[in-house]
Amino acid sequence: MYVTAVSEPLVLGIETSCDETGVAFVRGQQLLSDVIATSVDEQARFGGVVPEVASRAHVEALTATLEQARSRAGVAWHDIDAIAVTAGPGLVGALLVGVAAAQGIGVALDKPVYGVNHLASHIAVDRLVHGEIPQPCMALLVSGGHTSLLRVNDVTQDITQVGRTLDDAAGEAFDKVARMLGLAFPGGPHIDAASQPGDPGYIDFPRGLTDAASDREHRHDFSFSGLKTAVSRWVAAANREGIGVPIADVAASFQQAVVDVLIMKSLRACAEANIDTLIIGGGVAANSRLREQAMRRGHEAGVTVRIPPAILCTDNGAMVASLGSALVSAGRHPTIAALSPDLLYPESAAILVGFDADSSLPVELVSLPPPAR
Ligand code: KG4
Ligand code: ZN
Repeated sequence: MYVTAVSEPLVLGIETSCDETGVAFVRGQQLLSDVIATSVDEQARFGGVVPEVASRAHVEALTATLEQARSRAGVAWHDIDAIAVTAGPGLVGALLVGVAAAQGIGVALDKPVYGVNHLASHIAVDRLVHGEIPQPCMALLVSGGHTSLLRVNDVTQDITQVGRTLDDAAGEAFDKVARMLGLAFPGGPHIDAASQPGDPGYIDFPRGLTDAASDREHRHDFSFSGLKTAVSRWVAAANREGIGVPIADVAASFQQAVVDVLIMKSLRACAEANIDTLIIGGGVAANSRLREQAMRRGHEAGVTVRIPPAILCTDNGAMVASLGSALVSAGRHPTIAALSPDLLYPESAAILVGFDADSSLPVELVSLPPPAR
């Protein structure tokens, strides 16, 4: 199929990779609406995301979320140029809900559907706020499931992983440490809030993979499991000695250890690759300490740091619509063309889904290796 680039495409974005049902409309680089339904309260009871609970919540929320986003955008269904949907990585059952909906809408409206990569979307959302993504730039992707340093040559087709976490994702470390401190799930925002009155220098927690030997071997990689264990030991010792745990100080010290490593390694990677822009995305990019220190230290290092507003850092539909709009503007091929003759044959269903069993398949056009487990 031949694709014609549309300069200001109206794109519907659907995100259902985890526990947020996100639907948004974007025209070119302008965000028209962004509606999020979340099952986080249901998940909080379990202290983490239960995939089946998430999938069912998406099914229940999606129709109303789609209609609300369309009406807020003030557009008609037949006006849209394309549909973009998160095709991975993520929870398979949850992804399926979004992908099935996108394909149904694509068939009904005879519009192309773009399956997009969740990590690339976390970067692409910044177009809506700070303008086109510079080529090249460096991107630090920090979420509940991923922590990667990416070199972005072209957000629509050329992204390579420079570094990644060897164990826990940064957000996962926030969630686990929050649980140790008796804070609710998801832990990131609670640690952020609890740390406000705390002293970030109160405990000198380890900065993962920064000693000379591991820094040589894993220059651009991250590790948070040692930090998590150090916090756990510190809390256990304080409880044993009956001195009480100073939550604000422990939270602030832990947060500072994460922030220090993320910023140091990202800015150093920029300098070594001679890249002058760093984009930070993903749920942990909502962290107030990370935002403030990345901006300041970036400025000192001569690197422009771009971070979307916190509401666009956690999962949402705007990021998907934004990447979809960039793909359409660049004239990239859709993942499926609606009403293609293949659709008439049931055996084509596998191609339509667009991700494999572990859902880590990089979406075509964006070449990311599978995420760290
Ligand atoms: O990108 P996201 O919404 O979902 C994934 O793709 O994983 O990221 C969710 C993660 C959770 O681990 C949550 O605790 C963390 O982002 N997070 C934060 C903050 N807000 C959300 N971490 C630190 N500080 C925050 N303010
Ligand atoms: Zn995410």
